[in-house]
Amino acid sequence: MLFLDTAEYDEVASAVSWGVLAGVTTNPTLIMKAGMDHEWQVKRICAIVGNVSAECVTEKKDDIVAEGRRLAAWHQNVIVKVPLTPDGLGAGRVLAGEGTRINVTLCFSVNQALLAASIGAWCVSPFLGRLDDISEDGIGLVRGIVDAYRATGVGTKVLAASIRNPMHVTQSAIAGADIATMPFTVLQSMFKHPLTDKGLAQFTADYQKGVAARKQQPAKA
Ligand code: E4P
Repeated sequence: MLFLDTAEYDEVASAVSWGVLAGVTTNPTLIMKAGMDHEWQVKRICAIVGNVSAECVTEKKDDIVAEGRRLAAWHQNVIVKVPLTPDGLGAGRVLAGEGTRINVTLCFSVNQALLAASIGAWCVSPFLGRLDDISEDGIGLVRGIVDAYRATGVGTKVLAASIRNPMHVTQSAIAGADIATMPFTVLQSMFKHPLTDKGLAQFTADYQKGVAARKQQPAKA
């Protein structure tokens, strides 16, 4: 499944209109960049697409539980994001027990992903781009989590996050990630291939030639 990593409504609306979008991940940085009220923006996005992650910003378990309940009440499409900390997972366990879908964020190791799965999280988010940024193997982490989950029969989805380029999307899918969340520019770049552009130009030109040629001839069926 393809998700957008954005809090920009117009980007989400465009991707929805293309028919390719299955969800959105937001985080406090993306909300700040969009310059919108958190609740208002998440509700607007939820109105046009399912599976919208909204992130908790509190740090203590009881505060995260209270915040997660508030976020989940915004819309049925909200998935509550909790951090991969003891308090985050403790709160996630409570929220998951109440039927709220949980996205465990800021995952950087297979062991952390095993912890996320053990609370019944809907998905875990390995940040592969941030690992690549420090010369570690982001795709290797995605592959490792997928392998560990398959080996142990875990149902938690693997959401490849912190994607920087279209090759990350391809490699995440080949590694077995259930979802890739990406910036709008990366989603746009997935459409691009020079042979698609060339082929389309050729078909359009040939169609026009055919129309022009028929205009010169007596009518045929
Ligand atoms: C995922 O849910 C996060 O919002 C995101 O992918 C972080 O990516 P970044 O490393 O580009 O900030």
